[in-house]
Amino acid sequence: MPKKKKMGVTVRQIVLTVVAVVVAMACQAVSDAIVSRIAHASRAECARITSGTEPRIIGQRDARRQLYRAVIAPLVARGSKQKIHPLLRVCNGALMYGPPGTGKTLLARWTAARMGETGGAFFAAGPASLQDKYYGETPKIITALFASAKMHEPSVVFIDEIDGLLGARGPSDHAPARELKTVMLTELSSLEHAEPPPRVVFLGATNRKHDIDPAILRRMRVHIPVPLPTARDRERAVATLLDKPVEDYRGWFGDITHGASLADIREAAKHAVAIANERDDDGGNSVSASDVRLAVAAILRSTLT
Ligand SMILES: Nc1ncnc2c1ncn2[C@@H]1O[C@H](COP(=O)(O)OP(=O)(O)O)[C@@H](O)[C@H]1O
Ligand SMILES: [Mg+2]
Repeated sequence: MPKKKKMGVTVRQIVLTVVAVVVAMACQAVSDAIVSRIAHASRAECARITSGTEPRIIGQRDARRQLYRAVIAPLVARGSKQKIHPLLRVCNGALMYGPPGTGKTLLARWTAARMGETGGAFFAAGPASLQDKYYGETPKIITALFASAKMHEPSVVFIDEIDGLLGARGPSDHAPARELKTVMLTELSSLEHAEPPPRVVFLGATNRKHDIDPAILRRMRVHIPVPLPTARDRERAVATLLDKPVEDYRGWFGDITHGASLADIREAAKHAVAIANERDDDGGNSVSASDVRLAVAAILRSTLT
């Protein structure tokens, strides 16, 4: 009898083991599927941001200079054999901030191009890959992004519209949001304190700097303003978009577009082309100054008031 009992226990153990193995395999399959979806989403986002030819950026010279000084140059210098002054290890986190449509995402593409030129890597994530479809998986994406960046150093990890992801903590915070912030803080402090320092810089962009969690903000040591364009920049932008000499717009165009971003100017230029095309049916090639004035009135009245 004791023998039979022993046999029963053994069969039960075998059954339990088989069940455990099957469950583990199923979990692994699900987890693999999630990881591959994450990898796909991150790659897609990266491709979206870095695709196409290098963007032509109008103005934002200070922002470019700061990006170069704080993000690109230290990474590149640390990648070479030359002896590096310890103070060049200044920044593991930088934040571009400013009104919408001023070129923050373009500047990220510009940074990606500079990193590419020097053999560095660029990893990107934003609302498209982080928030909608993969809700709850975001901390895993962040961990995977930083792990890839460390594997391919020197590299930049870019997260666009970071306020949506890492807003200030509050009672309404739910578990995934809290977990995400914890993961981010862990990654940022590991960039800051690891020895030897990883040649990785975290770069964020936001329209709402003050909505970002203060603990995260503190770890992003360099804050790079990306302000609204000057009148001159708006005039250059419209002339470039409409393929006209900038003299045609000097003075008056800057005056009527006060406070507009270059994204607004682009919308106004598109509208002017549509007005010209409606009138002359010539593919929008006969845009006049009064078409531009009309378009500015129509587009900017709604965005600037
Ligand atoms: N500095 C700039 N130089 C050239 N084009 C710009 C600039 N800023 C904005 N634009 C135009 O506005 C669009 C949106 O810019 P984007 O970089 O997405 O702004 P942000 O990320 O700051 O909201 C760009 O695709 C481009 O057409
Ligand atoms: Mg943007």
